[in-house]
Amino acid sequence: MTTITALLQTIRLGRIELPNRIIMAPLTRMRAGDSGVPTAMNADYYAQRASAGLIITESTRIGALGHSYPGMPGIHTEAQIDGWKKVTRAVHARGGRIFLQIAHGGRVSYSSYTSDNLAPVAPSAVAPATGMAFTREFALTAFETPRALEADEIGAIVGDFRQAARNAMLAGFDGVEIHGANGYLIDQFLHDGSNLRTDNYGGSIENRSRFLLDVVDAIGAEIGIDRTAIRLSPFSQFNDMRDSDTTALFGHVLAQLSQRPLAYLHLVEARAAELGLSDELRAGLDNNVALFRQAFSGPVISAGGYTRDSAEALLAAGGADAVAFGRSYIANPDLVERLTSNAPLNAYDRATFYGGAEPGYLDYPTLEQQQSRAA
Ligand SMILES: Cc1cc2nc3c(=O)[nH]c(=O)nc-3n(C[C@H](O)[C@H](O)[C@H](O)COP(=O)(O)O)c2cc1C
Repeated sequence: MTTITALLQTIRLGRIELPNRIIMAPLTRMRAGDSGVPTAMNADYYAQRASAGLIITESTRIGALGHSYPGMPGIHTEAQIDGWKKVTRAVHARGGRIFLQIAHGGRVSYSSYTSDNLAPVAPSAVAPATGMAFTREFALTAFETPRALEADEIGAIVGDFRQAARNAMLAGFDGVEIHGANGYLIDQFLHDGSNLRTDNYGGSIENRSRFLLDVVDAIGAEIGIDRTAIRLSPFSQFNDMRDSDTTALFGHVLAQLSQRPLAYLHLVEARAAELGLSDELRAGLDNNVALFRQAFSGPVISAGGYTRDSAEALLAAGGADAVAFGRSYIANPDLVERLTSNAPLNAYDRATFYGGAEPGYLDYPTLEQQQSRAA
């Protein structure tokens, strides 16, 4: 199609008004150092992308035990809050809006992230059967078997999520997106392949959903439910997620979330590679927007393998309210302008997705820069 219109409509998400429906997806880039303190380089990267309807930051840890990638930023120390202030100020100065994605890695963490080499924690002592852990030293290694959380530790982690949301407000964010997707702690509680508990956080679908809802309600009470959002990835098998009845599980979760006026629900289609390691889209998987759009009462962002045309078609058909782009946003700081004018996109360089410094991070040119270089 030569012109797009649906992607360029404004939309209200909770307290903020977006000038368009083109969202920057959360993208881990592993460039926040060992202390997880965002730097001026990180601020430049996000500010370059400020024309997005909304920027959702990379996954950010709520505490030392939830740390799952080297160079992953945090939001649990004063220095990290101050580092993020640089980012939010830079994005707001360029007229943008930005939510912080907050996460606890659970069993996908690794002991070398803690000073006393503590085992990762999870709903149950079940290691993912597929995938690899990323150690603090940027090495890929087998996952460790996590320690099952004691019942009285669960409330403390809910408290850490709440404190992280409070810290996000101190750092100047417009809201938080709870990372309930891609096999991290909240997802581990949801699925019966990783949650074998027999207390009131395991067993029935209601019980397995309890941790997620506790986190949502604690954050909603802290910062306002209209500044709270959640990302979910039904049918994704990343990090060895499995469930005996995914449709019933997420049907229940969405019915519960529908009773809460969240800023938005972010659904990830399982067809795209979660870490961007392949360009192939998986075929034959259930489609989340088709199954679940009607099950949720508030705004829905859809992500996973969209192009300009497929995103526009989805919105025009009412399948979602906005579309998030991941890999395209890595390589195109001015994605909104490029999609608007139907300009070609820069290709992304997979080798620089994770770790390193400015190359592959700050040096993807805008259309304007390319045109002035060519002139
Ligand atoms: C380099 C990279 C890092 C990612 N990091 C995160 C992350 O921190 N949190 C998250 O929820 N998803 C993450 N994802 C998934 C993306 O948000 C998105 O769902 C995925 O890339 C599919 O969208 P795309 O086809 O537009 O790239 C990441 C993907 C890539 C490629």
